[in-house]
Amino acid sequence: MTSPTLSTPTAQEFGERLFGAVLGLQLAQSTYLGDRLGYYRALAAGGPLTPAELAARTATAERYAREWLEHQAVCGVLTVDDGHTFSLPPGTAEVLTDELSPNHVLPLARMCVGLGQHMDALAAAYRSGGGVSWAEFGADAREGQAAMNRPLLLGPVPREYLPSVPGIAAVLERGGRVADVGCGHGWSAIGLALAHPGVTVDGYDLDAPSIDAARRNAVDAGVADRVRFHLADAAAVTGTYDLVTAFECIHDLPDPVGVLTAMRRLAGTRGVVLVMDERVAETYTAPGDEVEQLMYGFSLMCCLPDGLAHPGSVGTGTVMRPDTLRRYASEAGFDGAEVLPIEDTFFRFYQLV
Ligand SMILES: C[S@@+](CC[C@H](N)C(=O)[O-])C[C@H]1O[C@@H](n2cnc3c(N)ncnc32)[C@H](O)[C@@H]1O
Repeated sequence: MTSPTLSTPTAQEFGERLFGAVLGLQLAQSTYLGDRLGYYRALAAGGPLTPAELAARTATAERYAREWLEHQAVCGVLTVDDGHTFSLPPGTAEVLTDELSPNHVLPLARMCVGLGQHMDALAAAYRSGGGVSWAEFGADAREGQAAMNRPLLLGPVPREYLPSVPGIAAVLERGGRVADVGCGHGWSAIGLALAHPGVTVDGYDLDAPSIDAARRNAVDAGVADRVRFHLADAAAVTGTYDLVTAFECIHDLPDPVGVLTAMRRLAGTRGVVLVMDERVAETYTAPGDEVEQLMYGFSLMCCLPDGLAHPGSVGTGTVMRPDTLRRYASEAGFDGAEVLPIEDTFFRFYQLV
């Protein structure tokens, strides 16, 4: 991850930087269309293709298919032979179509371009102090979020990161009971069940389309007998669990202390409480590195307006620093929030004790 320099740019330098960002935005927009229209999947499955072939395989109009293919080749995403047959190189195909690859960055484009469709509502919220809820952001946000985290939640998190924490390893080995709050499409719960055959997981989320998707995903993954999803406010959940997790959701919550209080109650005196949230800097510094820029970008367009859509919200935003989580944990009755020695570019892992 790189950081911008501290020196003040000339008008020409900053103009060039913004121009480059616009080219990147246009690429993200055409990538969004290529995903939504099935262009990349058609090229990956049956390439090289001409515009007429791509249009026929995706039920789209040939004139648009040609313009899109030409733009992608001009940008160096696709290669072109004889000016009219286009191919998707294997490495590029992995980033764009391999949903389980750690290099599957495409959902980031989906989410950012999708959030951009809500500019009127966002501008109104910025004026009024209100918000734009997760439900209003719709499928691009919900499905983009799930797809973004899926490779991590099915791979390193259950297979490397959590087993490296002794207290959690013991729960996973003995087939303990797990509660996963703010579970979204369920990949964290499903990942834990797939990697640890004795474990049972209850996932909780108050977004109905997410719970429906999570239930389908559990069936498809063959773990629906051990992973159950519940449409519920995490703050109101009862029961006793050996491990209680919250993956990338505490900063979204209007009432994080209420949910952390419930997590503490669910873990009882012996359970482990784990939070995965953004690996932002310990303190505010500007300019910031790429992770900091990305998280502020999401905060502007998604997490802060989502949080503020609910009356009485604390309005955390995506940039939840460790001190903020420690304060929330303390108000929820924990003695502390220990940062675990898990190395990840985007996420920090906390054990609440
Ligand atoms: C950013 S998404 C993260 C989803 C998932 N954990 C993941 O990593 O993909 C945050 C989720 O928290 C859920 N959520 C927000 N408030 C909640 C609450 N009070 N109880 C349960 N879920 C909640 C939202 O509906 C959303 O699915």
